[in-house]
Amino acid sequence: MSTVGKAGLEDVVVSTSEICFIDGREGKLLYRGFDVDDLAEHSTFEETVFLLWQGHLPSKKELADHQKALATNRKISPKVLAALRLLPKKTTPMEVLRTGVSMLSSYDPDAADNSHEASVRKATRLTAQMPTLVAAWERIRRGKPPIAPNPRLSLAANFLYMMTGKKPSELEARTFDIALILHADHEFNASTFAARVTAATLSDMHSAVVSGIGALKGPLHGGANEQVMLMVEKIKNPLDAESFVRKNLADKGFRIMGFGHRVYRVEDPRAKHLRRLAFEVGKQRGDTSKAEMINTIARVVTEVKKIYPNVDLFSGAAYASMSLPTDQFTPIFAMSRVAGWAAHVLEQHSNNRLIRPRSEYTGAMRASYVPLDRR
Ligand code: SDX
Repeated sequence: MSTVGKAGLEDVVVSTSEICFIDGREGKLLYRGFDVDDLAEHSTFEETVFLLWQGHLPSKKELADHQKALATNRKISPKVLAALRLLPKKTTPMEVLRTGVSMLSSYDPDAADNSHEASVRKATRLTAQMPTLVAAWERIRRGKPPIAPNPRLSLAANFLYMMTGKKPSELEARTFDIALILHADHEFNASTFAARVTAATLSDMHSAVVSGIGALKGPLHGGANEQVMLMVEKIKNPLDAESFVRKNLADKGFRIMGFGHRVYRVEDPRAKHLRRLAFEVGKQRGDTSKAEMINTIARVVTEVKKIYPNVDLFSGAAYASMSLPTDQFTPIFAMSRVAGWAAHVLEQHSNNRLIRPRSEYTGAMRASYVPLDRR
């Protein structure tokens, strides 16, 4: 048996994978060999989902069929919507997503079928339905009727439409589409590894996605984007940003959200795109104050701690400029990352072995049982 490695499985290589490559020193990210910079510039989220699941870019016909499958599977059962209405309005959107995805399996015709083909169909329905779940809760918690999905809009544009009731601008739809591409996969991050561990027991796609949602919810992982915006809202005046950061970083235990990464030792390659998008959408809305403040925070944090922005730093500023509520930022992350989770579930199932590590026991040995009346 090997000895205990660094805490948190740091630098432990668990298995091979053909889906995602990260170079933490150079700040490079590839999906199936394609640089995420190229995908952000030329691809769409729907095409990226196909690439992650099938391992190659789709032909025109493959893409058309895939887009149609995603666009025509967006509806969720009225019974699921009725169940959501029973939840307390204060239920957080990530709790609703975790509960909602569990319920979707009860209405999925392939729920009991773990074959590759059935898992791809379930992944397609989940990728199509999760935006509808997120947007439905936004309307229900505001006391409004959910807006039915529009199959003629792209996944990105349709989500913004279901959230706001208005068709988004070209820039907003493209910005959101690029954000979905950038969040789609990231090797063995905590939520993807949770999904793989679940799949490795030969459990199903829905259960693996619920495991991923549970892991992504934490502020050290997907929950960081929401925390960044709460920090920005707390600082309020951009002129106070520098002093806020310096004061808090003086406390060694303080973790400033949106910075640092277990793998990247330089800036996260996704951050530059999200910074640009946050400014572009902010400019269109006539308010770049949040993006400006985050830029100031980034300059100071990197100077003081030599740690760099990660994917969560600017995403919230871009979403806030599209009037998306702060507590919906992590569900938005999940709506994209379900593509990666599903790709890893398919890969795990294709060459499976139960994932079951060991621990080095450091507890008591040979304890003798003492009857209750003598304790
Ligand atoms: C995501 O894994 C992935 O790929 C995740 C993700 C994906 O796409 O799936 O990229 C998405 O989760 C991005 C990360 C979002 N989380 C945050 O922004 C939360 C804030 N970040 C930190 O909590 C931290 O950087 C982690 C959790 C992301 C990484 O933690 P590690 O690898 O366990 O690092 P650590 O906490 O042991 O810190 C190492 C050093 C420490 O300094 P020393 O005590 O050794 O002197 O770096 C410092 C820390 O003080 N440090 C930070 C910091 N991050 C690291 N100090 C202040 N603020 C931070 N954010």
